[in-house]
Formats: sequence, structure tokens, C-alpha cells
Amino acid sequence: MIDKISTLGGYIHEYQKSVTKPEEFWSRIAESFFWKKKWDKILDWNFSEPKINWFTNGKMNITENIFERHLFIRGNQPAIIWEPNEPNDENRVLTYNELFTEVKKFSNVLLQHGIKKGDRIAFYMPMIPELAIAMLACARIGAIHSIVFAGFSANSLADRIIDAEAKMVITSDGGYRGSKIIPIKEIVDEAVSTCPTVEKVIVVQRTNSEIAFDDKIDLWWHECMAGAEEYHEAETMDAEDTLFILYTSGSTDKPKGIVHTCGGYMVYTAYTFKNVFQYSDGDIYFCSADIGWITGHSYIVYGPLLNGATTMMFEGIPTYPDAGRYWDIVSKYNVSQFYTAPTAIRSLMSKGQEYVENKDLSSLKVLGTVGEPINEEAWHWYHDHIGKNRCPIVDTWWQTETGGIAISPIAGIIPTKPSFATLPLPGIQPIIVDAEGKELSEKSVEGNLCIKYPWPGMLRTIWGDHERFKKTYFSTYENLYFTGDGVKRDEDGYYRILGRVDDVINVSGHRMGTAEVENAINEHPLVNESAVVGFPHDIKGQGIYAFVVCGELSTGGVEGIKTSIQKGVTKIIGPIAKPDRIQLVRSLPKTRSGKIMRRILRKIAEGDYSNFGDISTLLDTSVVDEIIKGALENV
Ligand code: PRX
Repeated sequence: MIDKISTLGGYIHEYQKSVTKPEEFWSRIAESFFWKKKWDKILDWNFSEPKINWFTNGKMNITENIFERHLFIRGNQPAIIWEPNEPNDENRVLTYNELFTEVKKFSNVLLQHGIKKGDRIAFYMPMIPELAIAMLACARIGAIHSIVFAGFSANSLADRIIDAEAKMVITSDGGYRGSKIIPIKEIVDEAVSTCPTVEKVIVVQRTNSEIAFDDKIDLWWHECMAGAEEYHEAETMDAEDTLFILYTSGSTDKPKGIVHTCGGYMVYTAYTFKNVFQYSDGDIYFCSADIGWITGHSYIVYGPLLNGATTMMFEGIPTYPDAGRYWDIVSKYNVSQFYTAPTAIRSLMSKGQEYVENKDLSSLKVLGTVGEPINEEAWHWYHDHIGKNRCPIVDTWWQTETGGIAISPIAGIIPTKPSFATLPLPGIQPIIVDAEGKELSEKSVEGNLCIKYPWPGMLRTIWGDHERFKKTYFSTYENLYFTGDGVKRDEDGYYRILGRVDDVINVSGHRMGTAEVENAINEHPLVNESAVVGFPHDIKGQGIYAFVVCGELSTGGVEGIKTSIQKGVTKIIGPIAKPDRIQLVRSLPKTRSGKIMRRILRKIAEGDYSNFGDISTLLDTSVVDEIIKGALENV
């Protein structure tokens, strides 16, 4: 098993070793896993091609490291505790033995339906145990899962299925979310009708909703599993074979399929989970994310299960039946580590203390946050009212691309500071650069965050587009991985993430490309062009502000067109991309060469109507005054 860092001195020692002798450092950690064949070389890399290979020629299977490696001591220990949407419905507890049996059976189901190593399978599922079972079955047979958050539209799902050329989709009839039932299968049907590569759709029965069922491609999960064989030998995977694809938004173009591979991702997620959360045997760990995002992949499924931990899966939402739901779960299961997003904390904080008071939170040892900067007020509320001043908060900075946590306190060991992700984890070598890429080496400094050396959990490419991979991450600054985030380092060497410096906005911890939202808005028949920026939002962190130029107004007038734009974006991307504010404008502030000056729009959206900097290159400055006037009326 992985040794835990247990003192500040231990952290400093490990960190130094990871920088001076990275190969030795990671090889020692990798030794604690089960390899069918050991690697020939620990690391082979350059950031110019770029090429990143960890554990070259090592052969393994991540599920053997979850199951076979643990079973003899943990067979009867709960692996997954599933809490349903309705608090009074029966929960499900799957021990390691039970989970393993389900995974092996589903592996055989996949093989029986012609899925082979390397094939892609798209998922569109609610948070039910079958989601974890199916993803582990993919990993076991070497199929590549591409999980799509079940809040995206049919259109977004189809784009992702088409890009990955997925052969199969795994879904459910419907999903419960608070008091709503989501027509999951209907959305999948709409998407699949435009995806010729999909041969089969496997449907889990969850809501018993009436659904269309096409016998030619649809299969019921329970029928497939009824006759499935329980014996299955894990496929031998190369450390650098693809484990999964996960789509995420960038500043340009359509979402990109981030590729993670088997060996490095395994070592990195397991190492970071154990250390950051200081997980000990017997702890109950609860991460409230959805498995459709990277947090769920790495810190509900892979990281915890690789450590033989007990991990919770929650089907519902934090405010159903009321805003005390998370705290009810914590006290019902004696949760030890709780990991959530700042947006959830802010939203629960705004509902008032009555949902927290009288809840038994004494089992909690560690609190975590992820996905966006946490403001000091929310940090203190979390610390005082949930952690009762005794639980360290790990503010974990990382990205879909990093695979696992990169900058974060180690719970109880690295002293925390509100709103600071604190220090890099062993293996992460951050560097702050200015706009030209010059290293800002002073301790206390602000600039753009890059990482200068590979770590095992990092992405390897963008699915089907290595050139885009190079351009997005390694071309802004030579020989550096560019994160897209701005950062500040203080006199203690602590890092505070300031937010994205590119055209990506972070809405409730969800990444959204402004270009993606603009494209969706521009599909509206009356829209000529648009520009989208983020603005500070009390609960969501950032909201979406759209400046839209229309040719003419429809009969519904200004309000009618705003509503139909929102509907259009929801249909094209999903409700998470719906603009919070839409302002109709005569034209956008453009330079003489036709480039939109977003900096001005960002300022206006923030409510700062001055400090625009140099606007001498603007084609028509009167546009700015008009937009300010409109913004004041729009608030
Ligand atoms: O801007 C950073 C922000 O979320 C981005 C990554 O988003 P995504 O790939 O969806 O992954 C989210 C979950 C890992 C980052 O570029 N971010 C993530 N964690 C933090 C954060 N910003 C501030 N503080 C954090 N702890």
C-alpha cells in the first residue's frame, strides 16, 4: 500500500525527492501496485512533440489493482455506499466482493456484444451504482469509457459520441434529481439517431418511466446481466493504453476529448487520494461530485477504490428534500471526509443555519473543495459551521487535464490559509510566468500558472487531435504545460488560484468555453453575432453574460428574444450553459481590424464602467457608451 505523508517534514522531504529524483520517487510509489509485467523505463518525455510516457512497457489492469489486490483482506468491506435521491428509499451497499462480481459479469456482457479492447463506449447516466460498475467493466476489458454528464443536451452528447466514434452507449430509462425525473433515455435516443457508429444501447431500469425501446439496438441491463458469466480475467493493458476520454471545454472550438492512460493515472489518483484526504482504514469518504466530471472519475471511483476505501455515491441534489441533505448523509453514515464544490457551499450557506444546526457532524475529519476559487466567506462558513473549527479544509486545485489533485494542502499536515490551495503536491513543479513566458521567480508574485515537468496523471493527448493538444497546452510558453489559470504566490510560497486567464468561464465549478456558448447563441435565427463573458455571481462564482446583436426583434420583443435565446442554448449545450444575463446591443466593441475587445465587455459585465485601459484601437467608441447605458438598465 502507499505510505502516507504524516508530518510537515515528511512532506518537504517527499517533495524535494520528487523534484530532484522524480523517476526514483514515482518508481517507489508504483512498486506498491500489481503489475503483470514491470516497466522498462519510468519516464520518457518531451514537451515539444509533446510526448509523455510513464512506465513504458509496464503491463497491468487498473481493476486488478482495485479488486484482486484487495480482496483477500477487504472482500466483505463496503466499496461503494449508494444513497438514493429519496432519503427514505433503500440504499445499496456493495462490498468489494459484490462490486467485483458485478464488474466481471458486466465485462462479459460487453464482450458478448462485440466490444473489444480499444473500442469506445459513451455513458449518459444518473448517479447509480451501475455507472461505476460499467466504467470498471470497460477498464477491465480495455474498452475506453467516455462519460458525458447527464445534464448535457442531446446535441452535446451526439457531438461527443461522434468525435469518439463510440460503438455503444450505456444509459438508464430515467434519472431522479430532487423532485424531478429526467428523461435520460429520450435524450439518448435523440442523440443516437444522428450517430451511425452506435450499435447497441444498454439501458438500466431506474425510474420505470415509459420509454421508446428499439429491439434492434436497445438492450436491458438486467436482462443482459441475468445470464452473465461471473468469471473474467482482466485484459492485459499497457501502461500507456487509453483508460478513458473525458470531454472538457476550452477557449476555442468544440470541447476536446482529454485522454488519460492506465498506468500513470492509476498511480497518481491513488497517491493523491490517500495523501490529500489522509484516508485511513474504516473511514467513510463522501465526494458529492457527479461522475460525469473528472472529480467523480478520480475521487469517487478510481482513487478511493484503488486504496481499498469506502466511497459514497449520492444520486440526488444538495437541496432535496431540503438544504440539510448533505449533513443528513454525513450523520447517517458517519462520513469522515467530505469533498464538494464552493458553489454548493455558497448555496447551502445562503439557505441559513437551521439546516446545519442539530446535525451530528462529529464524524467529520477532513473537508475538501474543488473546481473554482473559494471565497473567504464561504471558506469560513465551511470551516466554522461544518468543520466546527476542527477539520482542516483541503482547497484542491487541479483540472480535467491534470488527472488528479496538483496543488493542495495535505489534510492536517500543511497549514491552511483561507482561499489558498497552498503548496504543490509531490511531483508537481509549478512555475509562474509573465505574458511573455519569462519565469517570475520571486516568492511573492502574480502571473500565469504553468507546470514544467511531467507527472504521471497528466493528459497524454486530445482524442484524435494531437496537434490541438500541442497548440492548447504547450505552445503558449515553450517547454511548459500551460494551465490557463492565473495565480498569486505569497511570501510563504503558498499558491492562490485567481481564475482563468483565457476565454474559459467557470460557472458553478463547470468549465464553459465562451466560444461554445456564443456559437449556440448565434444559431438563433435573429442573432447576428454575440460575445460572452463571465461576471461575478454570488452563488455560481461566475455567471454567463451575453452581449447579443440582433438583426430585428421578433413579435415577443426584447424579453421574448432573450427567452428564446436561453431556450436555444439549453437545447444546444444544456441548462448549465444558459446565459444568466443577456443584453441586446447595437454592435460589439471592435478594433479596426475587427477583433472584439472582450476586456471592455468583461469590465462592463463586472459592473466596472471605467478602467478600460487603452481603447484607442476601437473602431467606434460610442458603442461602449451605449453598452454601458444598456448594462445599467439591464441589471
Ligand atoms: O480554473 C481552475 C478551476 O477549474 C479549472 C479546471 O476545471 P475542470 O477541468 O472542469 O476541473 C475541475 C475539477 C478538478 C481550473 O483550470 N479550479 C479547479 N480547482 C480549483 C480551481 N480554481 C480555484 N481553486 C481550486 N481549488
